[in-house]
Amino acid sequence: MKQELSKIAQALVAPGKGILAADESSGTIKKRFDSIGVTSTEDTRRDYREMLFRASEGMKNCVSGVILYDETIRQKAKDGTPLVDIMKAAGSIPGIKVDEGAKPLAGPHSEIEKVTEGLDGLRERLAEYHKLGARFAKWRAVITITDSLPSWNCIKANAHALARYAALCQEAGIVPIVEPEVLMDGAHSSHTIERCYEVTEWTQRTVFRELYDARVELEGMVLKPNMVIAGQKCPQQASAQQVAELTVKCLKSTVPSAVPGIAFLSGGQSDEQATENLSLINQIGDLPWRVTFSYGRALQAAALKAWGGKSENVAAGQRAFTHRARMNSLAALGKWSQQLEKAA
Ligand code: 13P
Repeated sequence: MKQELSKIAQALVAPGKGILAADESSGTIKKRFDSIGVTSTEDTRRDYREMLFRASEGMKNCVSGVILYDETIRQKAKDGTPLVDIMKAAGSIPGIKVDEGAKPLAGPHSEIEKVTEGLDGLRERLAEYHKLGARFAKWRAVITITDSLPSWNCIKANAHALARYAALCQEAGIVPIVEPEVLMDGAHSSHTIERCYEVTEWTQRTVFRELYDARVELEGMVLKPNMVIAGQKCPQQASAQQVAELTVKCLKSTVPSAVPGIAFLSGGQSDEQATENLSLINQIGDLPWRVTFSYGRALQAAALKAWGGKSENVAAGQRAFTHRARMNSLAALGKWSQQLEKAA
């Protein structure tokens, strides 16, 4: 089992490959579809995701795994082929979002702080997802920064839940993606990059301590963190080089080298910013883990727009997706450049 988990984790972070996060919950995908004027139905969600999974060039060369939502892992393409089979044929490992969302954390800051729910019944759900083909899972915890928050209670509760989730995944033969996201966007996002560093370091240290207590095998997991970056509303935005340097410094001081890979979330960065930052991080070099992407918005935004809900735009949507996937694949090798971005 241990070996199997480590093989899957290694495959997820294979050189030049990263993860497509297509696990938007029904509420989130509705918001994305609203932005292009498309009604979110079971069929439109299927059409959109089928378009991405059938973008064979981008999928085959740049994507190691796809994170799915419960509906999608059970869904069939228009021609009746299970969507899971389509991504497997493209060489991708199916993954599944298993958390049940971030809910207000009871206590004095419940209007701001959240704790991720979904542990009850998780053992049984993981067994079913394994049967449906999932070999890795994801659980996202969110941490909000204000002048006085996060509280220790919020960090501790989220880290503890992440560790219990990760241990359950490994028991089921599923690689856990451990995702503690220190938010860079939303109502509370005026913090500096230095403050993000401080909170990210605190969060990751706590997460690895909890993972140790739960006896999670570090060789059989992937960390999905935020980059160390200023909040979207902060007037002093850091340079890409500064983001790369502080992110590497923070990861080096908190993430054991037994972890095979780190796959960042994009968190609200623009497509190109997320690519450039990842490339600069890899250019620093001499990192003990593979460092790649597990982007949702930064991989999909261009494709979503090009598609616009119209079947005649499927090829254009696939071209846009493949381009972003290629750029991020180069970034995972530290080889992206502005010229390549424009040349394509
Ligand atoms: P973003 O890259 O859009 O932040 O999404 C990644 C993800 O999976 C969030 O949980």
